[in-house]
Amino acid sequence: MTIPKIVILTGAGISAESGLSTFRAQNGLWEGYNVDDVATYAGYKRDPIAVHQFYNMLRHKLQDPKVCPNAAHYALAELEQKLGSDNVLIVTQNVDNLHEQAGSKNIIHMHGELLKVRNEQNGQITECFSDVDYNQNKLIRPHIVWFGEIPLQMDEIYDALTQTEYFISIGTSGNVYPAAGFVQVANQSGAKTVELNLEPSLGENLFQTKIYGPASKIVPKFVQTLI
Ligand code: OAD
Repeated sequence: MTIPKIVILTGAGISAESGLSTFRAQNGLWEGYNVDDVATYAGYKRDPIAVHQFYNMLRHKLQDPKVCPNAAHYALAELEQKLGSDNVLIVTQNVDNLHEQAGSKNIIHMHGELLKVRNEQNGQITECFSDVDYNQNKLIRPHIVWFGEIPLQMDEIYDALTQTEYFISIGTSGNVYPAAGFVQVANQSGAKTVELNLEPSLGENLFQTKIYGPASKIVPKFVQTLI
């Protein structure tokens, strides 16, 4: 992998204005569901049908024609287009595909992808745009990293973080590790660190530059300073 000049971590906040719920807001996804039930392997083993129903519901929501990339997703795609794919890496905690829809190419989905499923036996990953019926195939699980599981492509992410010039965190509350610790790695490596969020995150004091407001407004503006 070529080392990117800019590593961008995104979280649910970048997709909020596209109509997708964040996790920890009032009325957020985790207010209506028990994380242990729908986002752990133990919960899946307890009640696979209910867990599939939850991800089937999210998969439907994501494919609602009203759910589209917003100006923040488009700005990041433009940044990649202007600076070249090798220079801009998006590491997203989001399982939606709005970065892809906006045109970004260099993306790591560290928490998996909603529009993919994985065969538990052989690890094969396939695209999935419709409901999964557990009774039809008991080996297929959502391609989602649940709590207690190891996020994907961590070696590539740390390689990039230790050599990048910029680390920009967008729309994430800083509650979930290892993503919440990326800013410390980037700081130690001498990168410029920037937080773009609706409000200060838990790791606010670790960022050198912070800009607060809705992603669709502050991200395009900040991206212009990098182009
Ligand atoms: P959270 O719901 O924890 O945080 C979303 C952040 O986005 C908050 O800090 C909000 O203030 C901010 N926000 C909301 N609307 C925004 C807007 N319009 N513009 C900019 N910022 C906005 O979501 P994440 O930090 O992404 O993991 O959560 C991290 C992980 O926790 C998720 O990937 C998921 C979850 O449990 C798994 O499912 C494994």
